[in-house]
Amino acid sequence: MDFEAGIRQLKRDLNAVILAHYYQESEIQDVADFVGDSLALAQQAEQTKADVIVFCGVHFMAETAKILNPDKLVLLPDLDAGCSLSDRCPPGPFKAFRERHPDHFVVTYVNSSAAVKALSDVIVTSSNAVKIVARVPADRKILFAPDQHLGRYVMKQTGRDMVLWPGACMVHELFSEKKLVQLKVEHPDADVIAHPECEAPVLAQAHFIGSTKQLLEHTVTSAKQEFIVVTEAGIIHQMQLRSPGKTFIPAPPDNGCACNECPHMRLNTMEKLYRCMRDQTPRLDLPPALRQAAYAPLKRMLEWS
Ligand code: 13P
Ligand code: SF4
Repeated sequence: MDFEAGIRQLKRDLNAVILAHYYQESEIQDVADFVGDSLALAQQAEQTKADVIVFCGVHFMAETAKILNPDKLVLLPDLDAGCSLSDRCPPGPFKAFRERHPDHFVVTYVNSSAAVKALSDVIVTSSNAVKIVARVPADRKILFAPDQHLGRYVMKQTGRDMVLWPGACMVHELFSEKKLVQLKVEHPDADVIAHPECEAPVLAQAHFIGSTKQLLEHTVTSAKQEFIVVTEAGIIHQMQLRSPGKTFIPAPPDNGCACNECPHMRLNTMEKLYRCMRDQTPRLDLPPALRQAAYAPLKRMLEWS
């Protein structure tokens, strides 16, 4: 079965747009209408004129698209594509955490459920977190959830003190400082580029830190020819497409694998994408009250970006 041809035909039949994250497998990125980071995908979802949004990413990303587009059909190839950050920050304990800090301004990473977003003052992504936290009134204390590593990075960049929820990404947490230092010795001319979900000792080894989109843009504009990429390896596909002459080395995780892939993101396949468009399921639905409660902090993020 030629899934690619089938997907392209269904895209026309449904007047659908396929939005894909950089961590999707290459074939999915190639068939997508738009490939981006969390912020760019949310902005595309907000602006699209398509009737159907097919979201190739993880659950919280499709949920974000639905919060912004309550009247559109939002499909995702695999409903089980979760995220360790979102999954380990359940709304009940998060509400209790917030109640222990009643005077704090609640800044929540987009890698969270709609129910957690609904308990927040503003949402951030890795590309705008520093900018948005810097905009929080100086006299307000800040609570940041759920990624403690991104939170620490933002604290360092902004000089703002923040109470952190102790969450972490199961993929970025696996990068090994020791292996990275070894790689740097083997490739002394390479630029080390890292996602801010990595732990502080790994970030300390990086020449450039940014969201997936910012990392990609850096590889295009930098005069360097070689890059050690300290994030999910899927992004290397776009890096190679944009700079065919440059070399990209995936940083190894500390588990014996050669490169680091997100098991949630990789649940999506071309076959599941084809089937979800053909059958118009699985679809992302949200109770209207929850959607409305999650909309305000998300809209604030898009305005503050
Ligand atoms: P970006 O917004 O940088 O694409 O990050 C999303 C993500 O899930 C990182 O692990
Ligand atoms: Fe979540 Fe980490 Fe996967 Fe990103 S890479 S979706 S933060 S588990």
